[in-house]
Amino acid sequence: MYANAKSNARAAVTVPQLHAMKTRSAKIVALTAYDASFAAQCDAAGVDVVLIGDSLGMVVQGHASTLPVSVEHMIYHTAAVARGIASALLIADMPFMSYRDADAGLRNAGRLLAEGGAAMVKLEGAGHVLETIAALAQHAIPVCAHLGLTPQSVHKFGGYRVQGKTKGAAAQLLADARAVAAAGADLLVLECVPATLAKRITAEIPIPTIGIGAGADCDGQVLVLYDMLGITPGKRPRFSKDFLAGRGSVGEAIRAYADAVRSGAFPSVEHAF
Ligand code: KIV
Repeated sequence: MYANAKSNARAAVTVPQLHAMKTRSAKIVALTAYDASFAAQCDAAGVDVVLIGDSLGMVVQGHASTLPVSVEHMIYHTAAVARGIASALLIADMPFMSYRDADAGLRNAGRLLAEGGAAMVKLEGAGHVLETIAALAQHAIPVCAHLGLTPQSVHKFGGYRVQGKTKGAAAQLLADARAVAAAGADLLVLECVPATLAKRITAEIPIPTIGIGAGADCDGQVLVLYDMLGITPGKRPRFSKDFLAGRGSVGEAIRAYADAVRSGAFPSVEHAF
C-alpha cells in the first residue's frame, strides 16, 4: 500500500515510438485499466499502452452499455490510472456525446489531458467525427480513432455485432480508416471486424492499428483487463482469452498476454472472425 507505484525504470512510451513500432513491425501491447493498482500491474508487466476505456461503464459500474459514462467519470478514473503508471502511454476514452461537435471535443479532450493526465484521447466513428479529429490534431492533442464495432452505437447496430462483413460495409470501413488517418489520428482501434479486412486496413494506412476481435495482423492488440483475467461476469467474448487461468498472479497473467501478443501467439484463429 505504501510502495511507490512509480519505481519502474522503463522509459516512457511516446506517440512517435508507437509509429516507429509499426514501421519495424513490433507489436504494440495494450490493455484497459481503471484504477491505480491494476494500472501499476500493467506498467510493471511492460504493457505499452493503457486505455482507460469507457468499458468501465460495464465492467466497473455494472451498466448494460457504455452510454451512461460521463466526462467526470473518465477524468476520475484516468487520474487514478495515471497515478499508477510510470511508463505506459495513457489513452482516455471520450464518452458518449462528449465530442458531438468539434468545440465539445476540444473542451472535453483538453480536460482529459490536463485534469486526468492522459496523453491521447480515443473517440468512435468517422463521418462528422472527422472534423473533431482534425481540430484535436491541430491543437496537438493525440487521437486514437475507433472503428468497426463502436459500442457507443450499440442501439444503431442492434447489439454488439461483428461489423464490415458485407462487401459494401468492408469498403466503407476501409474508406473510414483512410479518412481518420488523413484527418490526423495517430492510432486506430479496430473492434470486431473480419481478420482479412483488418489486415488490409493495417497494410493500407500509415498509422498503427490496434485490434480487438480483429485478427493477428493488426499492429497491436488490446483487451478489456477484466475479460483477460476472467472476472467479467457472464460469457467471455470469443475474441478474448483468460490469461489468469493456470497462472498464479495478475502480474503473471498480464506478462503472459504481453508475451503472446509480441510473439504473435495471441490472437489465434479461434479469437478472430
Ligand atoms: O472502452 C474500451 O475498453 C474500449 C476497448 C474495448 C477498445 O474501447
